[in-house]
Amino acid sequence: MSTGANRGIGKAFVEALHQAGAKRIYATARNLESLQDVIAIALDVTNPDQIIQVAQQIQDVNLLINNAGVLGSGGFFAPNSIETAQWEMSTNYFGTLYMIRAFAPILKQNGGGAIINLLTIASVVNVPVFASYSASKAALYSLTQGVRAELAQQGTLVVGVFPGPVDTAMSEGVPLDKFPPIQIAQAALQGVEQGNEDVYPDSVSKQVFAGIQQDPKAVEKQFAGMLPQ
Ligand SMILES: NC(=O)c1ccc[n+]([C@@H]2O[C@H](COP(=O)([O-])OP(=O)(O)OC[C@H]3O[C@@H](n4cnc5c(N)ncnc54)[C@H](OP(=O)(O)O)[C@@H]3O)[C@@H](O)[C@H]2O)c1
Repeated sequence: MSTGANRGIGKAFVEALHQAGAKRIYATARNLESLQDVIAIALDVTNPDQIIQVAQQIQDVNLLINNAGVLGSGGFFAPNSIETAQWEMSTNYFGTLYMIRAFAPILKQNGGGAIINLLTIASVVNVPVFASYSASKAALYSLTQGVRAELAQQGTLVVGVFPGPVDTAMSEGVPLDKFPPIQIAQAALQGVEQGNEDVYPDSVSKQVFAGIQQDPKAVEKQFAGMLPQ
C-alpha cells in the first residue's frame, strides 16, 4: 500500500509493485482520478480519522509505503516561514506517524511485513534552499530510526530511502540532473527484498553519504554554498 500514489515517485511505486508481481496493490491519494489497475482509496495523510477508517477496511497489508510529501518555498526568514514549516511537518512528519500508528498492528497481524519511508539526502544534512523541508525530513529520519527500534520485536522491517534529486513535480525548476522516479521505487523494493534498512537509490545519494562519512562539515558547507549570495 502506498500514499500519494497518483503522481511522481508514488506512481512509480505502483508500476514497480506491478513489475514485482504484488498480489494486491492499495494505492491511496487525495484525488483518485488518475489511479488505475489498483484498489484506489481516498486518503489525506493529515487526516487521522480518515486514516483509521481506511486501516479498518484493509487488514491484509504487509508493505506500507509512506511516500506522500510536500516541499514549501522560502527560507526560515520568509514572511510565511512558520506556516510553511507547519505544513511540511504536518504532512511529512505527523502524516507518516499517523500512518504508521494505524498500520503497525495490521503489519504485526500479517507476520511483520515492512514499512518504507521516503526520506531524502536533505534528511541528513540541511539543504538551505529547502531549509524547513530539510528540517521536516530530518525529523522523519529520526522517527524512522525510533519506529524501527520499537517495531523490531514484531518483526517489521523499517526501510529509509534517501533519494537525491528526482524528476517529479516537486523538483520542477531545480537546476540539477534528476533521476527517474522508477529507479527510486525499484531500489526501495529491492531494499525490502534484501532486508536493507537504508537505501541510497542513486549516485548523488551514494556520493553524499560517502562524503558525510568522511567529512560531514565539508558536506554541510557545500550545501550552504548553494544559497544565492
Ligand atoms: N522529487 C525529489 O527530488 C525527491 C527527492 C527526495 C525525496 N523525495 C520524496 O519523495 C516523496 C514523493 O515526492 P515526489 O517527488 O513524487 O513529489 P510530487 O510529485 O510532488 O508528489 C507528492 C505526492 O504526495 C501527495 N501528497 C501531498 N500531501 C498529501 C497529503 N496531505 N495526503 C496525501 N497525499 C499527499 C501528493 O498528492 P496530491 O497530488 O494530492 O498533491 C503527491 O501524490 C516525498 O516524500 C518527497 O519528499 C522527493
